[in-house]
Amino acid sequence: MITAVTFDGAPEQGTINFSVGQPSADLLPLALLRGACGRFFASAQPLELNYGERQGDARFRAALAAFLSDPGGGETSPQSLMLTAGISQALDFVCSRLTRPGDTVFVEEPSYPYSFQIFRDHGLKIVGIPLDGQGMDMEQCERQLAEHRPKLLYTIPAYNNPTGQTLSQERRERLVALSRKYGFIIAADEVYQLLHHGEPPPASFGTMAGHGNVLSLGSFSKILAPGLRLGWIQTNAELMGILTASGVLVSGGNFNHFTSHVVRQLIENGELTPFIAHLRSNYAARAEAMDKALHTHLDGIATWQKPQGGYFFWLRLLDGIATWQKPQGGYFFWLRLPAHIDAEDFQAAGRDASTGFMSGALCSTAGGLKNCLRLSFAHYTVPDIHEGIARLGRAMRAVRGTFIA
Ligand SMILES: Cc1ncc(COP(=O)(O)O)c(C=O)c1O
Repeated sequence: MITAVTFDGAPEQGTINFSVGQPSADLLPLALLRGACGRFFASAQPLELNYGERQGDARFRAALAAFLSDPGGGETSPQSLMLTAGISQALDFVCSRLTRPGDTVFVEEPSYPYSFQIFRDHGLKIVGIPLDGQGMDMEQCERQLAEHRPKLLYTIPAYNNPTGQTLSQERRERLVALSRKYGFIIAADEVYQLLHHGEPPPASFGTMAGHGNVLSLGSFSKILAPGLRLGWIQTNAELMGILTASGVLVSGGNFNHFTSHVVRQLIENGELTPFIAHLRSNYAARAEAMDKALHTHLDGIATWQKPQGGYFFWLRLLDGIATWQKPQGGYFFWLRLPAHIDAEDFQAAGRDASTGFMSGALCSTAGGLKNCLRLSFAHYTVPDIHEGIARLGRAMRAVRGTFIA
């Protein structure tokens, strides 16, 4: 059995590195996918291995629309959906279809660090709009809109990576109204929308796709398996027309037909909803464990809020040592250290103690937030979380004396 993580920059065996935002082996649905593959091959026709529709297989979109139309999700039509190879690819695709080099994109400050490179790949100017505890600060956003006239606004509205903050329904509606007023497109990265394990978020931006310039980006990475590289965009007919006129789609249809055939089996068999419930209860236990372990080993260093869904805790380091707030969902704790302390200064001690975290500056558009750090609880079991936080607490306390008398 492969127990080692096999991706670029993977932590060494034996290390409990909380920078890893991927599920642990025991939460990856091998048996479910084996069953789904078996059912697909039992009835598949040779033509199903051909190219397919530009928006993605119609049967898949019907199954996905029915799944997304579950109570609370609003009514979703198959015509409003196109398949993607996940949110990272969707962002790249959206940039190539809807922006030009030199355009501006607004992002949350802090935000998902790997999105920055995608925007830079397309020559976009990135402007960070601060979060104020309840998601994007809408006053600041509106002030900056007139000055920068962005083409795109990228938001992670439910359980933001890295802070765990969720945008209220009122702010969502205001953002959609602003998108019409200032003519920008909202790219809502809703990767954690279904991964709450506490207070659920407001309905997805997909429910507002008909009311403005909205792209709701979804993914199976966090609700099934990242390696599938399968996701979707929900949007209105006009934006769908621009997206599907892409030469890549004209040449061969949608990105990931085969995987979509397999995943359709799983959705049609009613297996996705219980699997997500299984993930939620596991992540709830891990979030609880991280919260407890932080209290045991980092009290006096940081404060945090236990997430109600997803993988992450967001920790805040207070004056003196550290603070954090327990989020309502997502993968992360975000810790804030006193302003004069650089979280990076704890990395070496963390490595020596066989643990690790993501430095906050990586999540900042301008290399700020140096005094913050992100911890994910997705990749480790409850006992490993206790052990890893104990190691981190020892490492931080040892270094802390350098900064705080
Ligand atoms: C906010 C956010 N967006 C996108 C992704 C990646 O999504 P995908 O695997 O669908 O490309 C991640 C993965 O951690 C994420 O945290």
